[in-house]
Amino acid sequence: MTELRVRVPLRYPREDAPVTEPARQLHEAPQPEAWSRPFAPPEPSVFSLRNLSFWYGHKQALAEISLEIPVNKVTALIGPSGCGKSTLLRCLNRMNDLIPGIRVQGEVTYHGANIYAPDIDPVEVRRRIGMVFQKPNPFPKSIYENIAFGARVNGYRGDMKALVEKSLRQAALWDEVSADLKKSGLALSGGQQQRLCIARALAVQPDVILMDEPCSALDPIATLKIEDLIRELVREFTIIIVTHNMQQAARVSHYTAFLLADEQGAGRLIEYGPTEQLFTNPREKRTEDYITGRFG
Ligand SMILES: Nc1ncnc2c1ncn2[C@@H]1O[C@H](COP(=O)(O)OP(=O)(O)OP(=O)(O)O)[C@@H](O)[C@H]1O
Ligand SMILES: [Mg+2]
Repeated sequence: MTELRVRVPLRYPREDAPVTEPARQLHEAPQPEAWSRPFAPPEPSVFSLRNLSFWYGHKQALAEISLEIPVNKVTALIGPSGCGKSTLLRCLNRMNDLIPGIRVQGEVTYHGANIYAPDIDPVEVRRRIGMVFQKPNPFPKSIYENIAFGARVNGYRGDMKALVEKSLRQAALWDEVSADLKKSGLALSGGQQQRLCIARALAVQPDVILMDEPCSALDPIATLKIEDLIRELVREFTIIIVTHNMQQAARVSHYTAFLLADEQGAGRLIEYGPTEQLFTNPREKRTEDYITGRFG
């Protein structure tokens, strides 16, 4: 009885009820409803982003992004062109550092370490957090060298032949190319080239693979092969994929983050959640409009 009398007036004070000081404080304190709390996956985080903002010169491309990216899951980044998906992806392995005039604010931690801290070596960051691009970009070298080159540069001193085979097998390409590893990487089909690039990324033994629209230059069959591969690789790696293809995000990812540029053109995180929930029961009207093709 007492409990009820206390609890009810605190949350819903009647106009005429005398408001005690603690009650007033409690009432005025922000009362996060379950739906407005930021979503965090239950798995341990590989990346934690806290209020990440990013500028290209004077142009702000990302604004106050906070996000937890879980281990051994596929996280998809979706949103209309120009909302900052690639920029966000590149913030995760300091690839943007290579662009002059950029500025980063906020925090990106990787397994608890701030990757923008002064004592962090960006080369090591990029080794651990590999990247696969939109357009397959093999080196103009043999299939073998495409894989061995990066591993050698990164100081790999083990059995190179075994590493090349392992990486090609992991990328589901070995059976198609094992008969002729001397063939140029550029002589492969688009889908094979993309798997070669994935094998190349795997050869330096990363922990995370960032994929920026990895299938956008591929036909549907090659796309499905890459998606199968993603499902296989995620047992061992954490994968973050940018895609414009809603079906692809729904097919391969466990979690989805939806970004949208604000009036100033800076990308903001609109909604983040389990992929199935985001696609079937989005919390935000803007998410629903985007996934049902009403804009973007
Ligand atoms: N190197 C750069 N210099 C200046 N501005 C840039 C640079 N790269 C991107 N931008 C700008 O930052 C914003 C976000 O770009 P970004 O490439 O991250 O978007 P995106 O969501 O990946 O788009 P898309 O779906 O078309 O690939 C855009 O306004 C873009 O013009
Ligand atoms: Mg992009």
